Amino acid sequence: MNESLSNMRAGGTVDKKHFRFTDLALDELATIAGRTPAYIYNRKLIEQKINQTRHYLPDDISLHYSIKANPHPQTVTMLAAQVDGLDVASHAEMLLALGTGTPASHISFSGPGKNDIELKAAIGAGIVIHVESVGELDRILKFGEQLSKEPNLVLRINPDFTARQSGMVMAGGPQPFGIDVEKVGNLLLKIKANGLFCKGFHCYAGSQMLNAELVAELQAKTLDMMAQLVDAHQLSGVSLNIGGGFGIPYFENDKALDLNYVATRLNEKLISLRRHMDIDKVIIELGRYLVAESGLYLARIIERKTSRDKQYLVLDGGMNHHLAASGNLGQVIRRNYPVRCLSSQAGALTETVSIVGPLCTPLDVLGADLLLPILLPGDLVAVLNSGAYGFSASPHRFLSHPPPLEVLI
Ligand SMILES: Cc1ncc(COP(=O)(O)O)c(C=O)c1O
Repeated sequence: MNESLSNMRAGGTVDKKHFRFTDLALDELATIAGRTPAYIYNRKLIEQKINQTRHYLPDDISLHYSIKANPHPQTVTMLAAQVDGLDVASHAEMLLALGTGTPASHISFSGPGKNDIELKAAIGAGIVIHVESVGELDRILKFGEQLSKEPNLVLRINPDFTARQSGMVMAGGPQPFGIDVEKVGNLLLKIKANGLFCKGFHCYAGSQMLNAELVAELQAKTLDMMAQLVDAHQLSGVSLNIGGGFGIPYFENDKALDLNYVATRLNEKLISLRRHMDIDKVIIELGRYLVAESGLYLARIIERKTSRDKQYLVLDGGMNHHLAASGNLGQVIRRNYPVRCLSSQAGALTETVSIVGPLCTPLDVLGADLLLPILLPGDLVAVLNSGAYGFSASPHRFLSHPPPLEVLI
């Protein structure tokens, strides 16, 4: 683990007095950004994370970036140059991905509700479509004929198992995502009957998984399921996208995913599969894992307020900019993201404070009961682990404050 990542990962609520985001202090970041609130993404940390991930993963894995985790255009452009492909979930993400120069055959398009315009654009550009239902396949076949273009088809499977201990389960049982595995055979026949080929399979089962054994087990089950389909339907040269869902340790006591363990088990599995199967490539698509720890949300204190026995610090931005840190992005229990601050006060005095945003709702809390140095209006507060599902996953229009800046340094 490199020093910068482990520093960010340290979590906790006690300020590290001289916290630096790689080589810059919070006031230097604010000066560069020009104003707060701002999301700051760190190019060096993203590169380190990609290199670290590649170092562990088997050499023959294609590493894709899921744009939905952080669609900031400059950040996507720098990521695109370092990964093997991009995963998109909308027309806008598709255009962003194409604009990076990534070949269309290395861009995949997932999502349960792809509209006609999106499907035609994907077929027109030659993007890999992760087909998620019979109806969607029918529309793709129709548009392919209309455009006289062969669609690039991969079937997304909803397996008959689930992702255990996942922060968000997206497979197993009834799902809007993917084709139930027992129906995949019928769709393969339909594709064949239309003179087309299924180029492979995709399965994305869940997000924010930290248990290496369970991730390895899920990957093995996913590959076994795909291998059975390949055998049963005599497919060759397939590409197998086994999802990702690798988590990051957001909170105190979270343990980082043991990627070495996951990669070792995956490597063993792939060696044995490749012995009897013609696999073109195996893809892992990651969003959060590649970018979450490389971003922070920087805000300034507007007001200090004491209410009865509680001390509050009110920031110039809150849940409207960072829904996840406020605990309102699907979390069952609200927990504090790690916070760092820069106090203008000399000395080592600390106090217990709650950090809230400027919105008129009790939901707008970015840090509850933190032990921090004494902070005054004008001082800076940074919420770490904010590089994924931050800016784009927040309700910026709520209460009509201006949106935060996004800066890649
Ligand atoms: C199909 C698909 N791929 C990739 C991702 C990215 O997940 P994560 O950010 O957890 O890596 C998601 C997230 O919902 C997804 O639905």
